[in-house]
Amino acid sequence: MIGRRMMLQGVAALALGAAGGVLRAGPARAEGQGLAFDPEAYETLSTTVETSRGTVAVRYRFWRAIPYVARPVAPQYQVLNVSVPIEIDGVTVDASAAPILLANAVGGYMPSDVSAAKGVGEGGMMGPPPDMAPPAGPPSGMAAPSGSALMLAAGKRVSNAKLALAAGLVVVEPGARGRTLTDAAGHYIGTAPAVIVDLKAAVRFIRANAGRLPGNVERIVSSGTSAGGAVSALLGASGDSPLYAPMLAELGAANASDAIFAAGAWCPITDLEHADAAYEWCWGPNPVTGAGAVDRALSATLAAAFAPYQNSLGLAAPDGSGPLTAAAFPDYLLRAHLVPQATAHLAALSETDRQAYLAAHPHIGWRDGQAVLDWAGFIAHVGTRKKSLPAFDGFDLQTGENNLFGLGTEKARHFTAFAAARAGTTLAADIAETLRLMNPMGFLLSAHPGRSRHWWLRTGTSDTDTSLTILANLGAAAARAGDGVDLRYYWDAGHGANEDAEAFIDWIKTISA
Ligand code: DHB
Repeated sequence: MIGRRMMLQGVAALALGAAGGVLRAGPARAEGQGLAFDPEAYETLSTTVETSRGTVAVRYRFWRAIPYVARPVAPQYQVLNVSVPIEIDGVTVDASAAPILLANAVGGYMPSDVSAAKGVGEGGMMGPPPDMAPPAGPPSGMAAPSGSALMLAAGKRVSNAKLALAAGLVVVEPGARGRTLTDAAGHYIGTAPAVIVDLKAAVRFIRANAGRLPGNVERIVSSGTSAGGAVSALLGASGDSPLYAPMLAELGAANASDAIFAAGAWCPITDLEHADAAYEWCWGPNPVTGAGAVDRALSATLAAAFAPYQNSLGLAAPDGSGPLTAAAFPDYLLRAHLVPQATAHLAALSETDRQAYLAAHPHIGWRDGQAVLDWAGFIAHVGTRKKSLPAFDGFDLQTGENNLFGLGTEKARHFTAFAAARAGTTLAADIAETLRLMNPMGFLLSAHPGRSRHWWLRTGTSDTDTSLTILANLGAAAARAGDGVDLRYYWDAGHGANEDAEAFIDWIKTISA
């Protein structure tokens, strides 16, 4: 109810804005809305960044906590930081026309706070929401990070933001509302679709300040991990969609495009309304980490819903091997990704280390310089699943995603017919539209005109936070729309892995040229 009323007010605001609108240059418009970027309001900072070419010293200008909407509802979160390199290893650089990395810090669909960041790459939620920790998670107090912080924790200390800065790019880091935020009256103000509305408002702020905020606003490239990967992909897929306009108008977002040039998504937790079925189809056979078996009959019931969904998409395997149906999916993943990645991994090992790996991992073979594995063996090789059943729309309404779909004073709601039916209820009337606003797949499948044309998609082969099909479907849908797709599964890597971050920065430079 509340959502609908707000939407209607938003439509009215939009109509007024359009009727009285005079098209002017970006900065002038931004100024008129009280959203002008002040080029002088920076401090100069220094940092060092570890790269494959050694430690790089960067001097940069840093703008902290700039409000990106005129009428914020969560002022601490609806701000962004800007970092612009001025000197790299002692050499003066001019980033005024450089690509802009829009690095979100969203994790766990929680609020992401960059307002107190002391420099580039330091904002965001470092702690994990308890409702998204694995069942037998790390000891309390030692919670695993989520979102972009995952990248920092995953093996190497990698920050896309810092690497981009060291490569001469402009970095914008937006905060955003998240699912747990409430107002004084106890209303949830950061549940879906708040996070994507905020990120779009941040893009509009950047674009409205073209020529004033350093960087090329026609080359905005988004990045994010996990929930942040999901909203990064959504930002890329849904550029300039009128569906969000009323909510943007209500916040007083700048009158500018919210389309972005390219989207990078690591481990995206998306396509949520199909993710439970996809999860059982993929990881169903495995026991939950530390918590034992799942209900086999229920798992099979959910898994059976995957094929009708997958087959309805009408996607083709990007390697030209035919339709990407549920039946074809295992062979596609094996042929296009899993076997080549396992082969590369094993080929890079010494003979001794390879023999040790093969001895420790009986489901993986090695013949004529090639890894040998089949689907059932691969699933067994991964061994466990992080999530119980259902993975996303919990019967008990206790998952983070249940909270993501909260509304008004209701903290958590169902968003799949399956879980709702188990609870003896039906889905609330607004859920279908909210799902539409949160899922990049719909925009990609319809080749939405405002979408990004360049996609960097990554996840680990052992990432059991969601089904391995989620990433492949994003890639296949973008490829079918005619977009450039660079998709890779990192062998044996878990949730949050980012093993070729410098290649991502190189990719930005290549596609931007
Ligand atoms: C994240 C992880 C999850 O398993 C999930 O369901 C949602 C978000 C995250 O790390 O952002």
